Amino acid sequence: MENFIAHNPTKVHFGKDIVGQLGEVAVQLGKKALLVYGRGSVLRNGSYQDTKDQLDKAGIEVVEFSGIKPNPVIEDVDGAAGIGIEHKVDMVVAVGGGSVIDSAKIIAICITEQCSGWDVMKGLRDPKSVVPILAVLTLAATGSEMNAVAVVQNNKTMEKFGYRHPVMFPSHSFMDPAYTCSVPADHTGYGIADLIAHVLENYFGQGDASLSDRFAASIILEAMEYGPRLMNDLNNYDLRARIMWAATTALNGLLSCGRANGEFTSHALGHQLSLLYDTTHGASLSIAFPAWMKHMKPKIVHRLEKLGQDLFGDTSAERTIERLESFFRQVQCPIRLGDIGITPDKKDEIVSLMNKNNVNGKNPDNLLNDLDREQIVDLMFAE
Ligand code: NZQ
Ligand code: ZN
Repeated sequence: MENFIAHNPTKVHFGKDIVGQLGEVAVQLGKKALLVYGRGSVLRNGSYQDTKDQLDKAGIEVVEFSGIKPNPVIEDVDGAAGIGIEHKVDMVVAVGGGSVIDSAKIIAICITEQCSGWDVMKGLRDPKSVVPILAVLTLAATGSEMNAVAVVQNNKTMEKFGYRHPVMFPSHSFMDPAYTCSVPADHTGYGIADLIAHVLENYFGQGDASLSDRFAASIILEAMEYGPRLMNDLNNYDLRARIMWAATTALNGLLSCGRANGEFTSHALGHQLSLLYDTTHGASLSIAFPAWMKHMKPKIVHRLEKLGQDLFGDTSAERTIERLESFFRQVQCPIRLGDIGITPDKKDEIVSLMNKNNVNGKNPDNLLNDLDREQIVDLMFAE
């Protein structure tokens, strides 16, 4: 086992009508809030109104920034931070999925440090504290509600990557599975693929951590049991709750204990697809992860065999990849670039961007070179 520090200060409030506790929490944190949300889903599923009612009842003045995009962009972070600075807000309240919560994390730093969002993303700031971040989660996928990571893209420099800083843990996250009942089938499936990808990124990380392996298998088995049932029963609160919690635990630090580094190459590969084609994050992973596992098989064969044993009672590395791939299909996710309409003539631009951004993961045992990236992209196109 590798050395590790376990630290997670986010207070999670989970369950039906749990946003009813937000006002009494927020009132302890200040008098003015910047409320951040996306392009309208929160207005339709009730989460915006419930949050606003809580803030109003607590006597908290609210200023708003809406329109955060899926695959959020740095301009919106700067725009929202400008409003927060102008109004001297005491907290940022994010209502939405990972894109909104990630943006809120960088916005909170920009408000405190009065700096640009991209400076933060580039690691040019090291804040000691930030205005508190409250999250009201409406989509089960990223784990952003209980971690200190934000992923934002810059369309000018053509970069998308994650930035981590301990001040970015949300102080409180409110997770009412009922809000996720309105997530359509496609995004429900992408969220399930994303949570499984987070478990796998940890599983293929650097170091031997047997307890983390057991937690990892449990989370994937939970998603494999309840994910397909949810796809056929989108309004089922109980299934939504199980998937919501599985997604949170997949990336809240539990699985990285005992490992020096996670893997995260498939995430970096997928981010290039999001930059080029605005591919939804989970869909980029259901394409990138199988290709990465196939290409890396000689190096990671023992891990694939163990994963197969833990998940399917079968140690074949090939069949493990096949089964994961067919699970992604079962939850209606694409597994090849052709499935999302990207044709082989795009190969050069994809490989070029991957090479320009030196796409790699964090596990030094599995680093990629230019040829590896080209071969992985070939596998993303394979019949
Ligand atoms: O814009 P709105 O109207 O809010 O619609 C959103 C968006 O179109 C919609 N949606 C959200 N909740 C809904 C809903 N639609 C109906 N009912 C609801 N209850 O869903 C669409 C996708 O939302 P988004 O927030 O983009 O999805 P997700 O939560 O998957 O977040 C993806 C982003 O998170 C990053 C990804 O790279 C991507 O940019 N990640 C963040 C991580 C982290 N912080 O740890 C790790 C992840 O690996 C990931 O990289
Ligand atoms: Zn992810």
